Amino acid sequence: MCGIVGYLGEKNIKEILLEGLKELEYRGYDSAGIAVLNNGEFSNFKAVGKLINLEEKTKNFTTDGFAIGIGHTRWATHGKPTELNAHPHLGESSYVVHNGIIENYAELKKELIAEGVTFLSQTDTEVIVHQFEKNLKSAKNAFEAFEKTIKELEGAYAILLVTKEEDGTIFFAKNGSPMLVGIDSDGDKYFASSDTPLIGHCSDVSYFDDGDYGYVTKESITIFDKDGHTKQPRFQKLSTNKLSAQKDGYRFFMEKEIYEQSDVITDTLLGRLSHDEVVFEELESSLFDNINEIKFCACGTSYHSALVASYMFERYAKIKTSVEVASEFRYREPIMTKDTLFIVISQSGETADTLETLKMAKAAGLKTLVVCNVDNSSMVRLADATILTRAGVEKGVASTKAFATQVVVFWMLSLYLSKHNSTLSTEEIAQQVQLLREVPASVKVEDAMHERIKRLSKRYLHGHGFFFIGRDLFYPLALEGALKLKEISYLHAEGYPSGEMKHGPIALADPELFTIALLPEHLLYEKSKSNVEELSARDSTICAISPLEFDKADDYIQTKKQKSYMLEFFEMMVVVQLLSLEISVRLGNDVDMPRNLAKSVTVE
Ligand code: M6R
Repeated sequence: MCGIVGYLGEKNIKEILLEGLKELEYRGYDSAGIAVLNNGEFSNFKAVGKLINLEEKTKNFTTDGFAIGIGHTRWATHGKPTELNAHPHLGESSYVVHNGIIENYAELKKELIAEGVTFLSQTDTEVIVHQFEKNLKSAKNAFEAFEKTIKELEGAYAILLVTKEEDGTIFFAKNGSPMLVGIDSDGDKYFASSDTPLIGHCSDVSYFDDGDYGYVTKESITIFDKDGHTKQPRFQKLSTNKLSAQKDGYRFFMEKEIYEQSDVITDTLLGRLSHDEVVFEELESSLFDNINEIKFCACGTSYHSALVASYMFERYAKIKTSVEVASEFRYREPIMTKDTLFIVISQSGETADTLETLKMAKAAGLKTLVVCNVDNSSMVRLADATILTRAGVEKGVASTKAFATQVVVFWMLSLYLSKHNSTLSTEEIAQQVQLLREVPASVKVEDAMHERIKRLSKRYLHGHGFFFIGRDLFYPLALEGALKLKEISYLHAEGYPSGEMKHGPIALADPELFTIALLPEHLLYEKSKSNVEELSARDSTICAISPLEFDKADDYIQTKKQKSYMLEFFEMMVVVQLLSLEISVRLGNDVDMPRNLAKSVTVE
């Protein structure tokens, strides 16, 4: 997820911008850059990879007195992570940084190209600076050109723009992406896309509302609302605690990450959906040529997303799949044939067992693909192809948003392959693309739902164990729910296919055995229901998660009526995550750093 910083004043601008970008590092990025205007001259630096590369490039750069500058960390969406695609983007005499997506960039770009403008990058952002400079030619001043430009943009954005035309001014606009301005005791102005870069510099900050735009100078901050009326900044005190600021008011990173899922899934989808198909710019179209089987390999939560993937790939793309636990696969002398695409899945890209299986597949001459959240990680460097999940940095040891984005990537990839294999019609793919667009809404946490789960959690703090049960792709979700619970509550929990209970596990059923039953309306509802009835008849305590009321349940968490089981899947995913979280909170555990666990398992 991209990050923005800006500064106007007389202090060491290079340090302020670079330190600000460092504070945004936790959000994840693959390139970074700054542009500084000092004594009428621009200096611009960009680097791919970690900020240390940008620091290296700027090590001999100094400024003298008053300067203005903007900086950016970029998560690639439109265009690959290259220096040319990194922000700030240059026009003739202006630079821009931008978070979000300009939806009408293709139309604007086409017109600008027809008028003779040359584009250097593949980004949507670059149109902003060219459109601004085009408007500058006929405008009375730079602000008029900026205002006109903003009105021509459609989509979500947080924008900072600086221009030689007015070398003491930073122009800003915010719509749908966060941005705030802060002021220090000397009257210097600071911008950022979240408050952490401003902690330690500013005691007071003002958060912009959607539709706000304007400019700051040494003397003043001028804000207009979406209707063009001037408004005053609403300053408020800024926290001095960086860690709590990073949690954005949530009690734990895990909670914040559950709430973030809607936004990060929007990022996962960015630029990858057209109206009737899935587009993966990062993949060669030949990736699936001569492939008759897909083997998925991963650990933990990533293994669960691979299991979900196998249901989708077989159902939609009609391709044979197998799913392997990496720690098993590496020692069992597996047979690997060259008509198999080997897909590893990893949040970190560093998990030792998974990495080893990737090496084995490469050595055996298989085509390899990694679905990963961390660019430049070991797996990304090694695999033939990469799809980044764009979940942003995940701090909670219990993985949440990484899982959600992995499943979204696999859903998209299975449709991509369905088109390649002609196993779904154009209409069927278009329908699913429409459903994919609805995933961000399906994972939004509603207060009432969270409150209900908080209240219910008090009944699930003891007992001799939990069964999470589900059928079809709700079975891997059951496995994932059980893993979440055991990781952070230290209570014993198992995931089972609902139909498997009578083959042994049901012997454990009694009132102290808690069954968390996933009962989607649109996938094998009657079958799953009768499995739960069997448990209820043996007096197991049942918590049903379903849009349909179930009279045999002791507790019932009602999910929304959805039009597809995939949307039910995502909503239920949030429910099991919150249930684990609230049980763990009540038990007084360290939710973010559970005992005995590490976020990245880089040893065998
Ligand atoms: O970084 P990876 O996705 O490769 O990590 C794999 C597992 O270690 C990880 O998913 C682990 O199971 C999580 N703690 C689950 O919440």
